[in-house]
Amino acid sequence: MNIKNICCIGAGYVGGPTMAVIAQKCPHIKVTVVDINEARIAAWNAADLSKLPVFEPGLDKIVEEARGRNLFFSTEVDKAIDEADMIFISVNTPTKTYGKGKGMAADLKYIELCARQIARVAKQDKIIVEKSTLPVRTASAIKSILDQTGNHVQFQILSNPEFLAEGTAVADLLHPDRVLIGGDMSPEGEKAIQALVAIYAHWVPKENILTTNVWSSELSKLTANAFLAQRVSSINAMSELCEKTGADIDEVAKAIGMDSRIGPKFLKASVGFGGSCFKKDILNLVYIAKSYGLNAVADYWEQVILMNEHQKQRFSDNIVSTLYNTVSGKKIAFLGWAFKKDTNDTRESAAIKVADNLLSEQAEITVFDPKVVAERIYADLEYLNTRSIAENKKLLKVSNNPYEACENAHAIAVLTEWDEFKTYDWNRIYDRMQKPAFIFDGRGILDKISLESIGFVYYKIGTGD
Ligand code: NAD
Ligand code: UGA
Repeated sequence: MNIKNICCIGAGYVGGPTMAVIAQKCPHIKVTVVDINEARIAAWNAADLSKLPVFEPGLDKIVEEARGRNLFFSTEVDKAIDEADMIFISVNTPTKTYGKGKGMAADLKYIELCARQIARVAKQDKIIVEKSTLPVRTASAIKSILDQTGNHVQFQILSNPEFLAEGTAVADLLHPDRVLIGGDMSPEGEKAIQALVAIYAHWVPKENILTTNVWSSELSKLTANAFLAQRVSSINAMSELCEKTGADIDEVAKAIGMDSRIGPKFLKASVGFGGSCFKKDILNLVYIAKSYGLNAVADYWEQVILMNEHQKQRFSDNIVSTLYNTVSGKKIAFLGWAFKKDTNDTRESAAIKVADNLLSEQAEITVFDPKVVAERIYADLEYLNTRSIAENKKLLKVSNNPYEACENAHAIAVLTEWDEFKTYDWNRIYDRMQKPAFIFDGRGILDKISLESIGFVYYKIGTGD
């Protein structure tokens, strides 16, 4: 089966970059990314590439090369569905905020809407690819909706979860550790699997393209995110013990990471993991385990989230207790708001919770982040609903200059590991701060010795002396 026309529903952090790379690597395939969000599509079509809705290093170049050639962004969802041989579903699957499974299960309403829309529009056979992260066995629900069309259209459902990380999306897409494709084990299913394999094979070595059944593929995605988040919670748990015992978490991470069975990656202690997926996917896993009565399994994975909440809480608690048990009326400068460096995404960022805790203690916060805009920061706080919008705006300011953000501050909190923070003129910052001048490095990126020699009182996550 030779795919000539691809549609992707959902032009977000996954749909946009993934399709841009497919279009770049497969110039013979027309790729149309559609979304109901008109502003987002307009931003993907912006002439000024710095205005793309997703900031990812290297993405602008790829979009520039493919857009208008064989990559298109559109709000005409029906048209793109109708024309496509293969449809990727890459819509959001947030945690449910209502009804059964509220606060835990994945909300599949956007997925179901896509399935119903495809069922309504499709006139020819199509391959449907689950790109969104979904609970195991979602494909059977999609299939049962699609099979109701009554117009003899045949659908094959594939699971092709995405493993890219934000900030490195382009590199991850160009050189994936593996591409995972799950499909039906029938001859038709095998044909559909091979059609998708052929697309990736344009740039991914065949041995890195894994094929399996749909359920294994769906569950592998949730498992991968659970294992990754568990590593962060594990190292963060040890960071607290380091602070009590005089051990240094970076030294511990190095020592264990040299064991080839453990490996060195994903062992950086932090103020807590964020991002749109770790928490939601583990909650979803916990919910699935509970729904099968597997309470021990559910409790085990839930602990990863509880540890993460604890890490954020103790970071803000430490700021309050170090600043002589009150931050009321004190200025605290936040360096970073994004959930990690090299992205403008703030979903579930640790900074949000830390700020909320400190604002409840009546601190005055000024935030500087190289890529996050003020509207986003206020929207993140508003979503928590802890205090009025006016109060948030009164207590928290956003600055587009790091030196200005730190001026007159009692303390600086590093919430994101942006590289540029390491290059600042820390003497200049120190001179204009209240004394004693505290730094709480929630990412362990600054140089303790040089900061202490300037005069800072430096606190790094995971070191005790
Ligand atoms: P996102 O919120 O950035 O984008 C989803 C887009 O889908 C939105 O623009 C929304 O308007 C659109 N949409 C929703 N319903 C629609 C419909 N019926 N028709 C057309 N458009 C519709 O989400 P994302 O971060 O790209 O994540 C998408 C999926 O990929 C999620 O399941 C997520 O778990 C998974 N995932 C995300 C990442 C990541 O790094 N963000 C990585 C791997 C997997
Ligand atoms: C993560 C996974 O890494 C991707 O494979 C997956 O596709 C994606 O989730 C998803 O499904 O959405 P992402 O959330 O973009 O990607 O970013 P990560 O690099 O995994 O970082 C997640 C969080 O953990 C960040 O807040 C980061 O700062 C934190 N982290 C990561 C640490 O605190 N320490 C580490 O050692 C690594």
